[in-house]
Amino acid sequence: MCGIAAYLGSEQAYPLLTSALSKLEYRGYDSAGVALIDGNGDIHLNKTINKVASLSENSSKASIKSTVGIAHTRWATHGAPTVPNAHPHVNNDKNIAVVHNGIIENFAELKAQLQKQGYEFVSETDSEVIPHLIAQQMKEGLDFESAFASLNRLLRGSQAIVAVLASEEPMICALRTGYAGGLAVFPDHNGGTITSDLSAILPFLKGTDVQVGVAFLEPHEIVTISAKGISYRDENGNVIKKDLVKMSLSDNVVEKKGYDHYMLKEIMEQSDSVLAATRELIDFSSLHFKSDNLSVLSGSSFDRVLMIGCGTSLNACSVAQTYFEELANLPTEIYSSSEFRYKKKFVNDKTLVIAVGQSGETADTLSAMSEIKALGARLVTVCNTPGSQADQLAEESYFMNCGVEVGVASTKTFISSLSILYALAIYLGSNVGYLSETAVRDKIADMLSLPDVIAETLKDADSFKEIAHHINFSNNFLFLGRGINYPIAIEGALKLKEISYIHAEGYAAGEMKHGPIALIDESLVTVAIATQDMLYDKMVSNVKEVKARNGLVVALVNESDDSLDSDADYLIKVPAVSPYLAPIINVIPLQFLSYYIASARGCDIDQPRNLAKSVTVE
Ligand code: F6R
Repeated sequence: MCGIAAYLGSEQAYPLLTSALSKLEYRGYDSAGVALIDGNGDIHLNKTINKVASLSENSSKASIKSTVGIAHTRWATHGAPTVPNAHPHVNNDKNIAVVHNGIIENFAELKAQLQKQGYEFVSETDSEVIPHLIAQQMKEGLDFESAFASLNRLLRGSQAIVAVLASEEPMICALRTGYAGGLAVFPDHNGGTITSDLSAILPFLKGTDVQVGVAFLEPHEIVTISAKGISYRDENGNVIKKDLVKMSLSDNVVEKKGYDHYMLKEIMEQSDSVLAATRELIDFSSLHFKSDNLSVLSGSSFDRVLMIGCGTSLNACSVAQTYFEELANLPTEIYSSSEFRYKKKFVNDKTLVIAVGQSGETADTLSAMSEIKALGARLVTVCNTPGSQADQLAEESYFMNCGVEVGVASTKTFISSLSILYALAIYLGSNVGYLSETAVRDKIADMLSLPDVIAETLKDADSFKEIAHHINFSNNFLFLGRGINYPIAIEGALKLKEISYIHAEGYAAGEMKHGPIALIDESLVTVAIATQDMLYDKMVSNVKEVKARNGLVVALVNESDDSLDSDADYLIKVPAVSPYLAPIINVIPLQFLSYYIASARGCDIDQPRNLAKSVTVE
């Protein structure tokens, strides 16, 4: 979603800001722009609806001498992706430029008031009210910093805002009003940098140093950067001191390593995911848990578990519902964060709430987390981003440790989330005496063998590609699964629709007869997940029902299973593992199918249309 970078220092700002934007590009965007302030205090804008690279290439702006600027990648909410709607936006006197992430809920009334007072708008965005509001407040006598601070009072909704005052002594101010994206401030002795994503700090670092000290803005705090230095204020205008948090950015240094797409590289990295995600929780040499890193779970007793997340993370929660119910014997509910936010909540200090999200920046999940926290529940997070807002909100964070996921479609973080959730369920089960010591050791040993099984599955990429080649003609896919593999059917369908734009549905196989069976004909592809578990026979019957109606079936079965050989049109064979770990193996061929189908259709796999890697608006 929208990305922000701002810089005031002693280096040429334009190349730094455009390379920061290229680091933000993976999040998904539809237009981008930079505002530079030159030595005379004039603003120079450069905007594009093309790739970020077009800002750097052949741009006359690159030669402008400027050490101050702000930059933005936009994901349209109000107004189409056009150059006038792209950020930065400026006021009518063109001495204030603004970039904004989030939605201004009261923008219509603010815009009407400003228009009445003669302020002219050139875009359809909500964001454009901000430079005009700052100008209006300055006209009423406030200085730039105080006028900027008044946004805290004037704007409704969740925002991250950076504004620059163009003058011979330029000044940058930034503010966060909610969970619409965090802002990290990286001071250096000549000024500082503000970015919405830690990876965007990389271009501003000297040499190979990837250890940095950053300050994270809390809601309503304001940072000001000028030639005089950096200062912070709280929402009442009092000067405050912010501690710098030491962050390692080494995980943010990502390359394609010879693969055509980040998504393919990330799929291929998955054999490392299980152990990387759980190495802080389990000592694999002794097959014991590291209780010190599980203090929320070890120090309390819970009467239920509630998991929240969105998209792929929500699918991970759905798989893990079985883990917590069957291994920890705890009633477990799952909710989409966006739904949970607006429902009546039954949580208390006996509820273990697990918020799952790779980015740690999903606005719906963050809002739900802050409400849950206020209600007194015990809140932990499974996420891939140390320092993210989810990490800051949670009592304890379990990091995926799988490196940045650049492809918009989540793959390796799904497997990492499942591995952590599986470990947490086993730990809770053993704590309450529901799982014997032997059962715990056996389950940990199963995890230890998983990397080899994943590696074996990845070796079959060519055969998955071959199947993709035969079925990529279809515009309709039905993914069927049961029990713990029902969420895998949903995840398979989600991956396919996200990157190939093909209509796909994930369905509980038992529900097929209650409606979707009407869709079946030779043009509908049914992908049936039928690996061995207690519901296997029922899945086999469902496959036969589809075949009896001339449907085209791709059956995902275990290697030793030949019972569907004559029924299925195409067979995907995967190694057998424990039913609890089968979702981790079964999702892999489905990731490959979507990848190769999207590739055959010439889709933009790493940056699919309309999608964003971090969904920072509601
Ligand atoms: C799916 C996908 C999205 C995300 C969702 C939640 O491939 O990438 O559905 O899973 O936007 O994002 P996080 O996990 O960052 O909260």
